[in-house]
Amino acid sequence: MTVFSHSEFDQHESIHQFYDEPTGLRCIIAIHSTALGPAAGGCRRWTYGDDAEAITDALRLSKGMTYKNAVAGLSFGGGKSVILADEAAPKSEALFRAFGRAVDSLGGRYVTAEDVGIEVEDMRAVNQTTRFVSGLAQSGEIAGGDPSPWTALGVYLGLEAAVKHRLNKDSLGGLTIAVQGVGNVGFHLCQLLDKAGANLVIADVNPANLQRVSETLPVTVVAPEDIMLAKVDAIAPCALGATLTADSIPALKTKVIAGAANNQLAHHSDGALLTQHEILYAPDYVINAGGIISVAHEYAGQTTSSQVKYDVEKIPQRLKAIFDEAQATGNHTHDIADELARKIVGNASVKPLTAAQA
Ligand code: NAI
Repeated sequence: MTVFSHSEFDQHESIHQFYDEPTGLRCIIAIHSTALGPAAGGCRRWTYGDDAEAITDALRLSKGMTYKNAVAGLSFGGGKSVILADEAAPKSEALFRAFGRAVDSLGGRYVTAEDVGIEVEDMRAVNQTTRFVSGLAQSGEIAGGDPSPWTALGVYLGLEAAVKHRLNKDSLGGLTIAVQGVGNVGFHLCQLLDKAGANLVIADVNPANLQRVSETLPVTVVAPEDIMLAKVDAIAPCALGATLTADSIPALKTKVIAGAANNQLAHHSDGALLTQHEILYAPDYVINAGGIISVAHEYAGQTTSSQVKYDVEKIPQRLKAIFDEAQATGNHTHDIADELARKIVGNASVKPLTAAQA
């Protein structure tokens, strides 16, 4: 498998593959950049078609984390880990302890937490073999634990900002919002949207997750293949990435895309296609930063939930600045966000010359 000639390779600092024979663990840790600090980003456990698909995911996700952490103003670089799920390596405490040893072997260059397919208890097992982990169970007012409610709050506030900008609506009340994927983030997002008086259209490929929402909230359930075709005010993609493609975008019947999923654009050019169709796109790594903000606070020590909330509430301001610039310049929202991220990372990477070099 080639990495340097991979289409998603973008000056990643290092890519590590680990195998643990007793548990069957196979995982990849990709470190995109440590210019701003240790590479932080969640661990995803997913059934990939093949190894190449897992590498692609790790490369894309780790770069996204560099940009996300930079724009969120965090002192972290970008990294991500993927665990290749299969029958030979079922979820177990031993598997996550082995994963923790893999993380630990990088000596703190990578800090892990939850992503798709991972729960707080998994990260507690990881914590038995490494301290370079966040998203652990917390109690009382101390920040931390499952980051998904914070991600959902950021997405909710970002949806408000996007709807204000594109539809000139001051509230989400009475609007119809489609949520694709009602797992950890989607579930919490639906609760917030329902409380705000929005009408919900949801889909998921996991019947248990679908039921958890449909049994507690008034929602319209549609088939997974229909959710992106729903005629709604906004769509919040909260499942996996690459749902916005040259094929799916022309068929969209919405004016706003604002959701949690990482890497929503299948290709960079799909962002321009959204603009062409007059659909406002909230760049994914800007709107979904709530979770990593919580993870970063927890990792830094005894910070409180109200401090996390304060920082998550900055997400709509950042989006508004991006939307306003897009309107003023005609540039695409994802390009504006990327440029901002690259500027922040670039500034950090310029190291002063030492006396010997000068
Ligand atoms: P999750 O695994 O709890 O939920 C994802 C849900 O999407 C699952 O219920 C799954 O069945 C569903 N799904 C998968 N494919 C689907 C399809 N084709 N159609 C409809 N539903 C489908 O993951 P979580 O934590 O809720 O994350 C959701 C997304 O947000 C992911 O892309 C993740 O990378 C991203 N994200 C999550 C953060 C967090 O705090 N958990 C932070 C930032 C981003």
